[in-house]
Amino acid sequence: MSVLPLAITGDRPTGPLHLGHYVGSLLNRVNLQHTHHLTVLIADFQALTDNMGNPEKVRSNIVELMKDYLAVGLDPSKVRFVLQSAVPELFSLTCYMQNMVSVGQLERNPTIRSELVSRGFERSVPAGFLCYPISQAADIIGLGGGVVPVGEDQLPMIELCNDVARRLNGLGAHVSECKALLSPTPRLSGVDGKGKMSKSAGNSIALGCSAEQLQQAIKMAYTDPNHLKVSDPGTIEGNVVFEYLDAFDPNREEVAALKTHYQQGGLGDMTVKKRLITIMEERLSPIRNARMSISDSDALDILHQGTQQARVLSSEVLEQVLSAVGVARLSAVKKTYGNM
Ligand code: TRP
Repeated sequence: MSVLPLAITGDRPTGPLHLGHYVGSLLNRVNLQHTHHLTVLIADFQALTDNMGNPEKVRSNIVELMKDYLAVGLDPSKVRFVLQSAVPELFSLTCYMQNMVSVGQLERNPTIRSELVSRGFERSVPAGFLCYPISQAADIIGLGGGVVPVGEDQLPMIELCNDVARRLNGLGAHVSECKALLSPTPRLSGVDGKGKMSKSAGNSIALGCSAEQLQQAIKMAYTDPNHLKVSDPGTIEGNVVFEYLDAFDPNREEVAALKTHYQQGGLGDMTVKKRLITIMEERLSPIRNARMSISDSDALDILHQGTQQARVLSSEVLEQVLSAVGVARLSAVKKTYGNM
């Protein structure tokens, strides 16, 4: 296991994972677990940076996330699952690293900038939220670095992490830099056809949804608003039903033929939607069943084991960082000066 290169990824536990996560990152992780020693971090502290008033949401979604991971086929014998808040070493690292990043640098981070606008924070932004890229850098550095699968928009986060890693190494530490693994993973549109699928936009289909919920969502899904009669020619572009067929239907030729037929006219939305429901149900029902067969306590045990391993690893990194920044552990001080 340890001969494989490291990879780290994570999610905030703010809601169960949906099909956008499935297509955009989970499938990629399932592949990655065969070629890398993968760490999946449940970033509950990071989730709290803008959910301090709603701890129950964060707490209850930790086990939901674990079930999603296991149900899609992340194998606990290969993957290390870590609960961020249960690794205090990561917070110690964050604190020291905060002195190596300026507020200006954080405010210029494009991801943070757009999040500040979308959450309407302005000057009332929680300090912890503004600093979450530093906490994220501590997660990556503290858990050994490696490759980090990200989208383009996350590149400044990786840059910041490596900036800090280089500064630490300049002081004599030997922490690993990380490398962005840019994946050409498609981001799925929401069922309303307005932007990407997201829980907060209310346009998502949860990975663990019931057959009825799936049917409902697809029946309501956005198609071509000008395709009023079956005989009308329809448009494929922006039509989420075809986008989902592209993402889930393995029979490319039949999908191509359906598209041609739809564009020519004579193919009704309901016919295409029925096919999509069948295809998606085939894909989702094993995940739903697997999800139901996993108990809360099994899921949390697996998380606990990975978290314990992470503590061992991150305390070694912390030790290095402490000596690099000139701070000795209490145990070392005691050795030098005798018991205080
Ligand atoms: N920011 C990530 C998200 O919102 C979660 C995360 C926290 C993370 N720490 C990380 C991802 C470290 C990769 C590496 O999804």
